[in-house]
Amino acid sequence: CGIVGYIGYREAAPLLLRGLQRLEYRGYDSAGVAVLNSGLSVLKQKGSVGDLKKTFELSGDCMQGSTLGIGHTRWATHGDPSDRNAHPHLSRDGKTAMIHNGIIENYTALKKELSSEGYLFSSDTDSEVLIHLIDSIWNAHPEFDLETAVRNALYHIDGAYGLCVISEREPDKIIVARKGSPLVIGIGEGEFFIASDAAPIVEHTRRVVYLSDGEMAVLTRDSYLVKTVENVLKEKRVSELDFELEEIEKGGFDHFMLKEIFEQPTVMKDVMRGRVRLDDGLVRLGGIEDYLEQIKGARRIVICACGTSWHAGLIGEYLIEEFARISVEVDYASEFRYRNPILDKNDVVIVISQSGETADTLAALRLAKEKGATVIGICNVVGSTIARETHCGMYTHAGPEIGVASTKAFTAQVIVLYLLALALSKGRTLDDHEIELYLRELSAVPDKVGKILDLNDQILAIARSYKDSKNCLYLGRGFNFPVALEGALKLKEISYIHAEGYPAAEMKHGPIALIDEDMPVVFIANCDATYTKILSNIEEVRSRKGKVIAIANEGDEDIGVLADHVLYIPSAAGPVTPLLNVIPLQILSYHIATLRNCNVDRPRNLAKSVTVE
Ligand code: G6P
Repeated sequence: CGIVGYIGYREAAPLLLRGLQRLEYRGYDSAGVAVLNSGLSVLKQKGSVGDLKKTFELSGDCMQGSTLGIGHTRWATHGDPSDRNAHPHLSRDGKTAMIHNGIIENYTALKKELSSEGYLFSSDTDSEVLIHLIDSIWNAHPEFDLETAVRNALYHIDGAYGLCVISEREPDKIIVARKGSPLVIGIGEGEFFIASDAAPIVEHTRRVVYLSDGEMAVLTRDSYLVKTVENVLKEKRVSELDFELEEIEKGGFDHFMLKEIFEQPTVMKDVMRGRVRLDDGLVRLGGIEDYLEQIKGARRIVICACGTSWHAGLIGEYLIEEFARISVEVDYASEFRYRNPILDKNDVVIVISQSGETADTLAALRLAKEKGATVIGICNVVGSTIARETHCGMYTHAGPEIGVASTKAFTAQVIVLYLLALALSKGRTLDDHEIELYLRELSAVPDKVGKILDLNDQILAIARSYKDSKNCLYLGRGFNFPVALEGALKLKEISYIHAEGYPAAEMKHGPIALIDEDMPVVFIANCDATYTKILSNIEEVRSRKGKVIAIANEGDEDIGVLADHVLYIPSAAGPVTPLLNVIPLQILSYHIATLRNCNVDRPRNLAKSVTVE
């Protein structure tokens, strides 16, 4: 979900709506705003922020003249997407409004108590208990101010929250609090902004304060005060945002996803900038320098992540084991956190997260620290919770990624892992010359990706042939097995076609049963050690009338006879090939999804940043 808030001197409602549009990638099944002028005015409904904006244009007069308000875009957890479940939620006297991200785990018990006090619930959300709880406490203690009422309510809450509360009873104030759901305060001149991430803030101010878990803030027009939930004042560092507004706009592309795919050659260079010195094969990873020797001596490395970041982690496993010969295990963060993992100070845990806020990954990080492991973060969002809580880490520097389906952040993660694997090999398993050769291979990747992007029209033509498929299979081996998984994930996320990724050799143990003339199979068929085996797999698919789309290397004269479609890409050393092979797969999913009229940037039921379990 996404949260915005504003207090200052400007018209609040349009500002909040614009902010919500910038956050829509965080959740988009319903949206709402509440502002305070002579009283509290609320607009909320099922649907997109665009729909809410239309309603505001037709019937938002009541919101005029307000310079304080809050807004929310929702990703449903408890309760359907509907008008009644949209935030803000109101107290029963209609004077106090609240927006909430996260999950209140003890809501059933609280709801029972509040119901027995006579509170009626007008939504099916867990969030609504919180506003009634605040209201109930405030009514029982009229001497409290809003801040104290909120604080006392939070004492009763189990679960996660990022929340904002405003009230007619104290009309010049916003109270915010965070535990598990990110919140950023933007500091302007005579105005303050609140948001779940910096995207809605950067056009107004670059100066921000990141709230930490267990902190609250009280904002008035001329000051902000950060405290712990236990009411202890906190000194907070003001950070400077490091990205430009253009980076979160579409820049002439139809969709953010397409823009982000096409940005990859530039992003890849940014990821390497300052970290790679070709002349003497030097890899500099400033963020982990102090820990490098310790990581080299690790008994084992465990990589934890979710979704696409988990796929990058799998490639990381292949890379680190290949280059540095350190044993690596990759785990879904959600599994790791609940399976009582065997871990101690001799282990290193790498958590990978684009957003740096994924709840399961954050929990895995905290568990790993608790067990004494050294925890390294690979995050894209600067200042995110995961980036702040790890012992050390590396940013991917891919710039803001707005499309829900991850593209450039994935390739940036793979590059960081590649550099880490090389840094861990230095002086141990690879000599300087070998490292230099691998760095040269990596440095050649951005231009090769540029060439692959030129295949766009060819890929569009293939997409036209398969847009109505019901299933699709992706097969790859070695470094490119995780790429097969990622290709399949991209397709299912944005086009809603069922897709599976498999190691090519495993096809015969299951997926082969599915193959018929309606089953397209995408093969990653680079000219490497397993090439002839892949050709045999292609034969097996063809003899069952399956359709074959192959990603092959330029100059390959054999594959054209076997495959229905071939996308020829530049060849490269095995360890860098995931960075090349994934590009046509991203583009293929994009085109299939747009041909099916799917909302590629905001696929149904998904969210960019999953801050709930
Ligand atoms: C969500 C997103 C995915 C992402 C995953 C992990 O499911 O839709 O694109 O890969 O979360 O997110 P993270 O920010 O931790 O990389």
